[in-house]
Amino acid sequence: MAVRCVVGLQWGDEGKGRVIDLMTDVVDIVARYQGGNNAGHTVVIEDNTFKLHLIPTGILRPGKKSVICNGVIVDPAALLEEIAQLEAAGLDVSSNLLVSDRAHVVMPYHKAIEAVSEEIRSGAKNDTTGRGISPCYADKASYNGIRICDLYDEELFRRQVRTNLALKNPVLKQWSSGGEMSEDAIVEEYLGYAQQIRPYVCDTIAYLNQAIDAGKRVLFEGAQGSMLDVDFGTYPYVTGSNATVCGIPAGAGIAPRNVEEVLGVLKPYTTRVGAGPFPTELTDATGDKLRERGKEYGATTGRPRRCGWLDAVAVRYAMKLSGVDRIALTNLDVLSTFEKIGVATAYTAQGQAQEHFPAAPAQLASCEAQMKWFDGWTEEITEIRAYDRLPTNARVFVEAVEQMLCVPIQTVSVGPERSQVIHREG
Ligand code: IMP
Repeated sequence: MAVRCVVGLQWGDEGKGRVIDLMTDVVDIVARYQGGNNAGHTVVIEDNTFKLHLIPTGILRPGKKSVICNGVIVDPAALLEEIAQLEAAGLDVSSNLLVSDRAHVVMPYHKAIEAVSEEIRSGAKNDTTGRGISPCYADKASYNGIRICDLYDEELFRRQVRTNLALKNPVLKQWSSGGEMSEDAIVEEYLGYAQQIRPYVCDTIAYLNQAIDAGKRVLFEGAQGSMLDVDFGTYPYVTGSNATVCGIPAGAGIAPRNVEEVLGVLKPYTTRVGAGPFPTELTDATGDKLRERGKEYGATTGRPRRCGWLDAVAVRYAMKLSGVDRIALTNLDVLSTFEKIGVATAYTAQGQAQEHFPAAPAQLASCEAQMKWFDGWTEEITEIRAYDRLPTNARVFVEAVEQMLCVPIQTVSVGPERSQVIHREG
């Protein structure tokens, strides 16, 4: 398969980074098509833990190209910091990173406006990562966005900043503790970034299409998770982009028919950072145990993640949106020592079965998850590398999940290390 995609099937943090890292061995290019530095992909290689926020995971494999496509929004300061960290770890970023000239730029006023809107929403906060994501995407849609290519036309760029400040400064003056922002300061700061990122900037649409035509193997890396997709997720408790496979054509500039295979990633339980309905949430000691065993704290913000049982209803919905061919099941080791393990197989509301995933948050919040229960296993499984060596109850659980989802589970991971993965036959 020349063009593949890895997509998260829950609310993010499914372990996509480690799955992508394994696949980068057999691809030429890894490309990000949506999101910004709100993402946090953690990859553990021997004694080093890498937390990638903006740069595709391919950067960790020497010689592989990493592309930040047009659908990604780029905070240049964050990008430069990530480049510096990777180079300090001995990785060759300058030969391998490409950044789209059409990608939109996260500006300082995006973060300030986001803080203000979270404040104003008070009771209905989204609990964003605070990286300016949704205001930046909103500006893209309102034609007030600033793209990377604009940074190289000083007159245009200054005019764009002036227009944005004319719109935003009155709001910031009234609502933001930081007050109004200065055109000169922003222009000076960003022109400096523009020079520093210049060597990476190019037409990634031309680059990717030429690569695909030449038969290069491309892997698209989804950030966040399907249930945070701005169109299909639990709106308004979502992120500003299309985190499903639907985001690839618009976010990378390739034709939809090019995507030949989709690998869905999921954990055998559910986590969610931030607000929004969560039908299988566990707010008790079992949820705390999942959080502690799974080290479920945000890679970007360090916030404790909300934890609950696997929600097969949400996962099946997510799988339909992206047309998932195979599944990578991560974090199975986290479930060791639980006496009983639950999976939601259906929702009911007022005693009625819900046939479709509800659109309204209140409707989803009122759904009752119908659970199927499995016996757990007592032994730790982190050292196991062959599927048939897993405890019987672990295999019964994996195979039951596979049946519920009707798609093969190809790999099962049993720890965060590159080597802690079990490949199944077939
Ligand atoms: P934003 O993307 O910062 O606007 O945040 C919107 C919602 O998506 C918040 O609930 C965040 O916690 C959540 N979110 C954003 N990025 C990630 C991620 O990479 N993993 C998990 N949740 C995320």
